[in-house]
Amino acid sequence: MSAIRGEFSSRFGFIMAAAGSAVGLGNIWGFPTQTASNGGAAFVLAYLVLAFCLAYPALMAELVVGRHGQANAVSALRKISKPGFGHKAAFTVGFGGIVCAALILSFYAIVAGWMMSATIEPIATFAGQAEAATWLTSQSLSRDLLFTAGFIILTVAIISRGVENGIEKWSKRLMPALLIILFSLIAYVLTQEGAMTGLKAYLVPDFSRIFEADLLVSALGQAFFSLSLGTSVMIIYGSYISKKENLVSLGAYVTLIDVFIAFVAGLLIIPAMYVAQAQGVQIFSDTGALLSEDTLVFQVLPALFESMGSIGLLISFAFFALMSIAALTSSISMLEAPVSYTVEKFGMNRLQATWTIGGIIALISFTIVFNFAALFGFVITLTTQYGQPLLGLMCCIFAGWFWNRGGLLNEIKQGNEHTEHTIFWKIWPWYIRYVCPLCIGLVFVNSII
Ligand code: PFF
Repeated sequence: MSAIRGEFSSRFGFIMAAAGSAVGLGNIWGFPTQTASNGGAAFVLAYLVLAFCLAYPALMAELVVGRHGQANAVSALRKISKPGFGHKAAFTVGFGGIVCAALILSFYAIVAGWMMSATIEPIATFAGQAEAATWLTSQSLSRDLLFTAGFIILTVAIISRGVENGIEKWSKRLMPALLIILFSLIAYVLTQEGAMTGLKAYLVPDFSRIFEADLLVSALGQAFFSLSLGTSVMIIYGSYISKKENLVSLGAYVTLIDVFIAFVAGLLIIPAMYVAQAQGVQIFSDTGALLSEDTLVFQVLPALFESMGSIGLLISFAFFALMSIAALTSSISMLEAPVSYTVEKFGMNRLQATWTIGGIIALISFTIVFNFAALFGFVITLTTQYGQPLLGLMCCIFAGWFWNRGGLLNEIKQGNEHTEHTIFWKIWPWYIRYVCPLCIGLVFVNSII
């Protein structure tokens, strides 16, 4: 561990932290609902291809820039660009990413707050506290404010402890817990009536839909959100990786785990929709379209849990605990982006910086809660539809065009001398220079049109 900056103490620690950032509500809620509303398995296939062929190379660009810079996102991007225009661009992209991460956290904390209150609700019901249980599922201001604040405080408490004792330690505990809950839930749901129809819809693709522009735009947006790209988060996590580690394989592990969990979450959610349908909860219209994308998690699944009787309470608790844990390991990475910048740029101590930024983000979240109809969707669109693809694209341009090729390859080589003999070595620099910017740009323009 270096004296001033933190560093992940082990390979496993980094993988858990970065996969923790990647695996979140986007995987367990976003991916299955997008799959259900975009033609099932065709979306899954498009997602897999885009995640490995575009998002993974873009993730590598951010990790490499971060590890080379050994600093916050702005300084790391400055280090590979020339003074003048290059440094100005570095500030715009690095700081833009930090603001994007903070804004994502401001809406993510609200949703995570709903997950936490839904985790406690079955306990209140079990304890016979009907009034408390009703309040916990109400859409009241008091509930939203309390749980949003509670979630931000939890995030702040972990981040204030630093890289090794905060981010790494908690990711190593929470990620295995998440896997255990996820697999137990799948084992239960797959034994229920209707589950096999759901499994078929999830796994058998309708090839005619695969090249639909809307489907591709949604799949790429989902892959970017899921791998936390364009937010400076992976630059800063990259900066905490030791020079002895093999970056290419670390990035590959993170991508594989992220895609795997999204895929596995689909094995839970899509069959669960069909189980609910078999039990009389209406999920699909007569034409087979998903009726309520937004209310899936808070209306459809709870209706399913309720229909299960008392075991439903336990399942409901486990499901929302899973969601809350996934959200927490992602939110700590979002907070780390602005905190690391503030600590390094202004020399503030970590504890002060974390509470100050946590406080500012809480204020933004509260503003969204008070103006929900006007702001919630707006902030989501601004950050995930515009901010992330655009900033992710810029990071590829930094790595591919602003940095000299020798420096880029040299950084990749550290920790793995054999990289030179791999296809990655031959293809990636070219890929990051031409293919990624072009494809991401095309999909981005398409999404705006
Ligand atoms: N990857 C997270 C998810 O799938 O839920 C969301 C996320 C985390 C987005 C961190 C952006 C970020 F910086």
